Amino acid sequence: MADTSDLFEIMHTTRAMRRLKPDPVPDALIRKILQAGVCAPNGGNTQRWRFLVVKDPRIKQQVQVHYKRAFDEVIGPRYLTSAPPPGVTREAYMRQHAAVQYLTDHFHEAPVWIVACIEEAAAPTRWSGASIYPAVQNMLLAARALGLGATLTTRHLLYEKETEAALGLPSGVHSYAILPIGYPMGKFGPVGRGPLADIVYEDRWGHPYKGL
Ligand SMILES: Cc1cc2nc3c(=O)[nH]c(=O)nc-3n(C[C@H](O)[C@H](O)[C@H](O)COP(=O)(O)O)c2cc1C
Repeated sequence: MADTSDLFEIMHTTRAMRRLKPDPVPDALIRKILQAGVCAPNGGNTQRWRFLVVKDPRIKQQVQVHYKRAFDEVIGPRYLTSAPPPGVTREAYMRQHAAVQYLTDHFHEAPVWIVACIEEAAAPTRWSGASIYPAVQNMLLAARALGLGATLTTRHLLYEKETEAALGLPSGVHSYAILPIGYPMGKFGPVGRGPLADIVYEDRWGHPYKGL
């Protein structure tokens, strides 16, 4: 079933959905996603997050040119030489690579993007990221709960100046992610991750956590 309200089911099946139909997404659903986003924690509750909803095909196309250039120059070659991550078979990794390539070519065709930004004069820090990515994850979970596909993307940052200019961001506003959102072509499925035992320790670094 596309829609579900079980939180753990949602978390286990919120994976990058890169193949999206161009069909429009109702504003009422985008509003629900944004509302879920601003429920997230943020430093000091200062709420310096800003969200740009992009539907204009010309703007998306201008950004896609740089998104694809970054793939051709950096991301594509890296994928071809890197090993599959923990919990992912080589076959699944190759499928992911094909999906990444697909999104690269069709980035601008997603009917709606949410660009997650922070308004701050200073250069971005770890604390800045910590105040926007919880909102981003909330939005990914909300999209999944509504049966919409989305992907957390940051590749445009390889051409930050050019893409932020194409998005028309004023100075003092930094983008942290672009979420292309639409109805998925495929089905939601479980995420592939390695076992907890490999990454969780108790009291001392490297000592297995016995609670697993
Ligand atoms: C910081 C960050 C940046 C990412 N940037 C991109 C991106 O630019 N393009 C993309 O297709 N996926 C991007 N992803 C999605 C990851 O590739 C994806 O989460 C990971 O491969 C795990 O796959 P899954 O979420 O489908 O389980 C990004 C994820 C994170 C956390």
